[in-house]
Amino acid sequence: MTSTTGIPEKITLIKPDDWHLHVRDGAMLRAVLPYTARQFARAIIMPNLKPPVTTSALAKAYRQRISDALPAGSTFQPLMTLYLTEQTDADDLEQGQREGIVTAVKLYPAHATTNSDHGVTNLAAVRTVLERMQRIGMPLLIHGEVTDHQVDIFDREAVFIDKVLIPLRKTFPGLKVVMEHITTRQAVDYLEAEGGATLGATITAHHLRINRNAMFQGGIRPHFYCLPVAKRELHREALVRAATSGKACYFLGTDSAPHAKTDKESACGCAGLFTAVNALEVYAQVFAEQHALDRLEAFASLNGPKFYGLPINSQKVSLTQVSDPQPLLKPILTADSAEIVPYQDANPIGWRMD
Ligand code: NCD
Ligand code: ZN
Repeated sequence: MTSTTGIPEKITLIKPDDWHLHVRDGAMLRAVLPYTARQFARAIIMPNLKPPVTTSALAKAYRQRISDALPAGSTFQPLMTLYLTEQTDADDLEQGQREGIVTAVKLYPAHATTNSDHGVTNLAAVRTVLERMQRIGMPLLIHGEVTDHQVDIFDREAVFIDKVLIPLRKTFPGLKVVMEHITTRQAVDYLEAEGGATLGATITAHHLRINRNAMFQGGIRPHFYCLPVAKRELHREALVRAATSGKACYFLGTDSAPHAKTDKESACGCAGLFTAVNALEVYAQVFAEQHALDRLEAFASLNGPKFYGLPINSQKVSLTQVSDPQPLLKPILTADSAEIVPYQDANPIGWRMD
């Protein structure tokens, strides 16, 4: 977008929230958190630490470690989640909600992704917990992929919707569900039909920018490997249409998932893209290309709080259009000398956060 006056275009929004984020722990936490705190007022913090965050007490302790890692003066607020296991205690999570510690519960099908070996194998085993969540209005955040190795990796989200999500929502019609990091046209189709007060979805910046070819461009590209894996171009296009549609059921969730460079560039590389460095700018680029900048605020700052029943932020952020190609993002370094390679878009990002 070029302004007619020649003055760089500037947009101001209510400060956004990130509804799906991995910040890890220890030195990695301290290295990555400031990038998120600069752009976002709050974030839903994923619980897949090693060992995972499974109780209110663990969530409270983790929240304290996150607060301790914030830059001085930051008002960033971590919203904590519990990792659902077949041992989750419904009373503990209700108590955690009452005390303002627990915002949501995360369902990882066992072995679906990074650090998910404690996940749920049999949904019947967590029935009483889901009933309680439905009663107290606590959202269930779902990593929506089947883990059956007979199912092609590119089909695992679509099969999950048919085989698991639809039956689950029939059993618990009042349960608030977020389909996390959707990657397919099938997910968008389902949301177009069913999205509303009890069904929403997060969409990452990278799934709006890359299709599956990015992983194989001239060789194997581990820094474009995440889960769910990027799909065909037609799916990316469906995601762009959904995110920029202005519909209330879609909201921003980066799924920024940092890993040490050595763990990514390995014979068995970890899944996860570290997008926290300039996520908001990348989203702005997507909306600008669709001539939908007027809908960015709904996606980034309004739809999420509405779904979660939380107040809208009072701070603002602004983004300025830049015409010079932005320099390549350098790896960031943790205090224990691990390098983390940020997501690098194939095209210059024409926006800079002020
Ligand atoms: C996430 C991670 O590294 O924790 N990886 C990813 O590719 N997104 C786990 C997840 O959200 O699936
Ligand atoms: Zn994630």
